[in-house]
Amino acid sequence: MSHEPEPIVIDVDTGIDDALALLYACAAPAAEILGVSTVVGNVDLNAATRNTRAVLALAGRGDIPVWPGAASPLSSASADARHVHGESGLGHAVLPEPPEPASRTHAVDAIVAAAHAHAGRLILVATGPLTNVALAVMREPELPSLVKRFVIMGGAYAESGNVTPSAEFNIWHDPEAARIVFRAFGGVGGASMVAVGLDVTRKMTFDEKDVAAFAASAAGKPKGAALTRFIEDASRFYFERMEASQGRRHLVMHDPLAVAVALDPTLVETRRAAVDVETSGRLTTGATIADWRGQWGRLANTEVAVSVDAERARKMFFEAMLRLAEGRSR
Ligand code: RIB
Ligand code: CA
Repeated sequence: MSHEPEPIVIDVDTGIDDALALLYACAAPAAEILGVSTVVGNVDLNAATRNTRAVLALAGRGDIPVWPGAASPLSSASADARHVHGESGLGHAVLPEPPEPASRTHAVDAIVAAAHAHAGRLILVATGPLTNVALAVMREPELPSLVKRFVIMGGAYAESGNVTPSAEFNIWHDPEAARIVFRAFGGVGGASMVAVGLDVTRKMTFDEKDVAAFAASAAGKPKGAALTRFIEDASRFYFERMEASQGRRHLVMHDPLAVAVALDPTLVETRRAAVDVETSGRLTTGATIADWRGQWGRLANTEVAVSVDAERARKMFFEAMLRLAEGRSR
């Protein structure tokens, strides 16, 4: 793994776990965050953009450009996930209005420009629906051969979905976009996609005991109080929702794991497969279908994460939060 910080663009639909993923990236020595693009998903575009700016300011990284992208999916009407992330998208957390405005550059222009400027070196991570990435590959078909690594939080490959029995939210929210992206990557000379799906993210969770332990370790640190308050208030909403729906107070670290894998691929084991997306199934729209046995006779386009060192990933997350509490973002 290189020790020079790697240029990274993160595409988010900032909700609670996207916010935690952004905090993680801000504290990761391996990441040179070129910018964060926003997309409709958990919440509407304006909320996702505002939340992203506020979270970056909390991390002391208000200097990172935030590029607004698609306000609606390519697919027909879809639903948000405010029932999981709260009306604002950040649960019970309240962050001040960030001083820095969003950039006037559109996400798609920014992603394509970053890929050209850092050809062969850019790491692209998507932790929301793939609308912006689909528009980017339509704008620049060479995108898959320009990026070094493309990691998504998305899909369910041998696991049940979280929106329907077969579909994970990020794919379900814009299945047409997801299908375009899966079909664009993995060709000859192009990077494969690394799919961090529910199969592995469900193994990386934290609970109130973990939050209390972090609070104790961050006490007295320069940014400890603000960071602890945010993590407590954002995660408490999620705990309440999970308890109501699944009887267990925990937070599934979907998006932080995707960012962690993008910066340290050794956290997961992957298996190559041709993956495609169902876009018109009466019961299965948004399902990610992995052709494990090569029955389609297509080139494999995806490295599907099939196992994860969840303990190490969780430890890395809270160590990163402590660095932020100490005021040590990159
Ligand atoms: O299914 C989980 C994914 O959907 C996460 O990215 C979460 O933020 C939501 O966007
Ligand atoms: Ca997300």
